[in-house]
Amino acid sequence: METIVLVGSWFSPGLLVILIAACVCLLCMNASKGSTTTHIPGPKRWPIFGNALSIDRNAHVTFTKWAKTYGSVIGVKLGPMNVVVLNDLQSIESAFTKSGGILNRPAPGLLKAAFSNDGSLLWENGEKWKETRKFVLRFLHDFKQQKLIKLLNFESGKLCDLIRQHNGAAIDVCQPINMAVSNVLCALCFGHRFEYDDDNFRSLLSNLQALGKSVSGTTIGHFLPFLYYTPLYSNFRNLATSFTDFIDGEISQHIESYDPINVRDLIDAFLTDEVELDRVPNKRTETRVRRAIIDMFASGTDTTSTALEWSILYMTQYTEQQKAVSEIFQTFVILITIKREVDDVTRQHQLLTLQSYYEKLPYTQATIMEVLRHANVSPLGLPRKVSKPMSIQGHLFPHDSWVFANLWAVHHDEQYWNDPTNFRPERFLSVEKKTVISSKAFMPFGLGRNLHNTNCELTDLCKRCCVGEKIAMSTIIVILSKIMQEFNFKIPEEDPKPSLVGINGLTLSPAPFRVCAVPR
Ligand code: HEM
Repeated sequence: METIVLVGSWFSPGLLVILIAACVCLLCMNASKGSTTTHIPGPKRWPIFGNALSIDRNAHVTFTKWAKTYGSVIGVKLGPMNVVVLNDLQSIESAFTKSGGILNRPAPGLLKAAFSNDGSLLWENGEKWKETRKFVLRFLHDFKQQKLIKLLNFESGKLCDLIRQHNGAAIDVCQPINMAVSNVLCALCFGHRFEYDDDNFRSLLSNLQALGKSVSGTTIGHFLPFLYYTPLYSNFRNLATSFTDFIDGEISQHIESYDPINVRDLIDAFLTDEVELDRVPNKRTETRVRRAIIDMFASGTDTTSTALEWSILYMTQYTEQQKAVSEIFQTFVILITIKREVDDVTRQHQLLTLQSYYEKLPYTQATIMEVLRHANVSPLGLPRKVSKPMSIQGHLFPHDSWVFANLWAVHHDEQYWNDPTNFRPERFLSVEKKTVISSKAFMPFGLGRNLHNTNCELTDLCKRCCVGEKIAMSTIIVILSKIMQEFNFKIPEEDPKPSLVGINGLTLSPAPFRVCAVPR
């Protein structure tokens, strides 16, 4: 049986006593809970931990296996929590997008304990969430129109300069990519970027990465939140505190230098909103701003740079000699097509607008979509919570149960993808290969709208899907085309072949790998 990863290897008799005492309490709590998911088919649940001990970090793979035995809607128990996992498109659509669908989110215990949920865009519900979401969507819309392309051109230039300094020697390219992407989010949230050799910036990012890797969406501490205060999560606690301190520092500086005539970034926009609502900036303002900025900065940086890291890895994978000839041919086609596409377009237009990146680089865009489908940056999306009992495919979902959409399962479902395990960007192109076509089974950003439904940015149609989809896609397409135009990437001869199996934390990221970026 696979075992769950409990953070750190620390253990002591004292902790064991605390755990046993807490478990007895939980057992009593569990016994008194009325509705459960026991009527929904699923694997056998054990006392106290439920199914938690049978799930390793790659919960999406375990859930997919279970769905083959128990059906696509499965009921499990993680600690005291009733959880329903939806493993097919139909049940996910019915549960998340039909009228009266599940909009609320639960509060993962570790995140609530570390950051509180007050003002959170990710974890708050009801009117407060709606207010924040509308506000952030409006800000992102203007940011994209007015500032994004200039910023991306500048930052991708800086990234290329940094990579070029290595003269084709083997490097961990994920670090520079992470810094470039983070700088886009820094500009969005804080109104400024950092130099790549800034020690504070480097330590902020390594803390943030460690934070993201130290827990996953199904980590036991989310369901048994008292564990946050035990030595099991001391590392997570320290990382969370130092991240919050950094954000607090930025907010204080913004309050000191605030000028309503010159709204520099998202923090300033929040301060302006508070003033317009006749709220003098106070402790509540700080809490609201802090929580929303934490959400935007953390979720934007980790996911987008992971997607770019996967993109580079895929670009290097299939060119290796030991691959079958057909695959080598296929990947050369991918690389050559992207490079030709990017070269042609950049030769004609020195500075592209964002719109023209999408219009003139369909093959590059299709490749990015295929990376998002095949690699799955966020394989289980973010959990939702049932706020009123509802029935899907004949199964009653109890009030307050958590619901996970297994996006990984949908992205690998043979019903929608001919050859789901193959990496084949063409599946997202029209026959004449000039237009990008999406699929309703393509949902890396969750549910609510897809990339080509451009009108819904400011409407309720957005439901609860990712607010950063356009920022993420624009960042990936500009940075990827720029570095593909400047370098040929290959795995160093002395290194083992990198694995395409991801490591799951808050995102599913590639295992560390090095590349030689040879200037073209
Ligand atoms: C490749 C990059 C990204 C991926 C794969 C991704 C994926 C997701 C997914 C799956 C969800 C859950 C949606 C649902 O429940 O249906 C989500 C929500 C969210 N994402 Fe992203 N995301 C990415 C980039 C970004 C960026 C760049 C930002 C910020 C600028 C961002 C901010 C958020 C926020 C705030 C939410 C919560 C929205 C809400 O609950 O109302 N994401 N994302």
